[in-house]
Amino acid sequence: MQIEQKVKENQHPRVCVVGAGPSGLAAIKNLQEQGISNITVFEKNNQIGGNWVYDERNDHSSIYETTHIISSKTLSHYVGFPMPQHYFDYPSHKLVLEYFQSYAEHFGLSKYIRFNTAVLKAKQIDSKQWHVVYEDDQGIHEECYDYLLVANGHHWDPHLPEYPGQFDGEILHSHQYKKASVFQNKRVLVVGGGNSACDIAVEVARVSPQTCISMRRGYHIFPKFIFGKAADEAVAKTLWMPDWLRQKMFSLVIRILQGRYRKYHLMTPECGPLEIHPTINSELLYFIRHGKVRPRPGITHFEGNKVHFTSGESYEFDTVIFATGYKISFPFIDKELIDFSDLTKVPLYRKMMHADFENLYFIGLCQPQGCIWPLADYQSKIVARIIMGTLKRPEQLQQKIEQEMNKPHYRFKAHARHALEVDYHKFRRELLDMLK
Ligand SMILES: Cc1cc2nc3c(=O)[nH]c(=O)nc-3n(C[C@H](O)[C@H](O)[C@H](O)COP(=O)(O)OP(=O)(O)OC[C@H]3O[C@@H](n4cnc5c(N)ncnc54)[C@H](O)[C@@H]3O)c2cc1C
Ligand SMILES: NC(=O)c1ccc[n+]([C@@H]2O[C@H](COP(=O)([O-])OP(=O)(O)OC[C@H]3O[C@@H](n4cnc5c(N)ncnc54)[C@H](OP(=O)(O)O)[C@@H]3O)[C@@H](O)[C@H]2O)c1
Repeated sequence: MQIEQKVKENQHPRVCVVGAGPSGLAAIKNLQEQGISNITVFEKNNQIGGNWVYDERNDHSSIYETTHIISSKTLSHYVGFPMPQHYFDYPSHKLVLEYFQSYAEHFGLSKYIRFNTAVLKAKQIDSKQWHVVYEDDQGIHEECYDYLLVANGHHWDPHLPEYPGQFDGEILHSHQYKKASVFQNKRVLVVGGGNSACDIAVEVARVSPQTCISMRRGYHIFPKFIFGKAADEAVAKTLWMPDWLRQKMFSLVIRILQGRYRKYHLMTPECGPLEIHPTINSELLYFIRHGKVRPRPGITHFEGNKVHFTSGESYEFDTVIFATGYKISFPFIDKELIDFSDLTKVPLYRKMMHADFENLYFIGLCQPQGCIWPLADYQSKIVARIIMGTLKRPEQLQQKIEQEMNKPHYRFKAHARHALEVDYHKFRRELLDMLK
């Protein structure tokens, strides 16, 4: 009864989506599928694809010349829209962008998108509408919407740590790293143990006379293929096992395939392989054993061109590349309303619904051990149905959010890096349950 009433009230809801990356596209497709046509999508770039638009002038994208996805083609597609048969297991960024373009074309999504238009401010009025200020080449404009869907991505605003002392060489963040060739004559230190750090260290080592990687802790480094299967496909084969057994099994399998981390002069991880965001790289360990990448522990301080490490050693470098991750940022929303930048757990139900704002949804704001966009697709299905009134918004949201924060899928290390971390399969099931 209540639901039917909502459909009447919301016959032509005006929906604003911020961003036409993989998550924004999923949002438009599902809004359209549910019969919502009054959709405005603001995209500050001149094309769709978000992070997957490789262009050295694109200040949003964090991918580089040689990026290939780490979630496999088999598990990296929107619901019912597989990647083409001829794609390899881990397609390049160029093919991934083509996949998004074909999705947008197939479902006719571009007609809703205002390109070269940046959202500057979004403010809630009367808890019923969002007042949105945006800028295009004609100037600054404003409009009101019944719903705001935020899909602005969470891998674009660099987290840059500070250390005592001063480094006289060049300092970059992985967000700025685009290609290795510029480091041909440079001694480079890459900082971090995530996928950006390991990818970049390997790429730079192909041309640089000296490449080191500084990791402040031990990481589980998964090879891209386990017994001939893509890593995420291999993990998916073990879903029937209890979590503790899967963790033990993967620790053992990785050790059998690669040996102990100390053989590579790396620290041993202090947690199970699923309790930390996975680093998936088949080349780093090989490069370390060939002397092409030198492992170093954490940094203590800088001194001129010297970097001092926790081992007491110090080395000179020309460039330090901080592959130290990204902040969660919504520069167009007042920080007093929403600020997740320093949190270790994000107060959203299913990483999308805020207890205080009924007409605000986040799409793709999750960090799966797997691919983001299928999950953004399910989140969008839920939102589209809630907006149309064919699905009830969950009640007692605050309580549910607290439960979700207190019971993560695994005992993830409590730091900002894991604020959005989810197990792909468990999260997918939770979203599907909401759609029942
Ligand atoms: C090197 C690298 C490799 C990766 N590999 C994988 C992988 O293998 N698998 C995986 O699932 N994920 C991977 N990711 C994560 C990546 O972030 C996601 O794949 C995906 O791009 C997220 O989509 P999104 O739409 O949420 O965000 P984005 O792709 O960041 O898109 C956000 C869009 O919003 C627009 N926007 C932002 N702010 C505004 C504004 N104020 N006004 C208007 N428009 C705005 C941007 O221009 C952009 O187009 C990788 C990330 C990096 C950096
Ligand atoms: N090929 C690919 O498909 C590919 C490539 C790159 C990135 N990605 C994806 O993009 C996302 C971002 O990855 P990312 O590697 O850029 O970031 P990330 O996963 O957040 O990793 C950041 C790394 O920097 C370290 N770090 C953070 N602060 C530090 C500090 N103060 N001092 C020293 N080290 C510090 C972290 O260490 P702690 O663990 O100790 O915090 C971690 O090792 C992830 O989803 C990733 O999977 C995919």
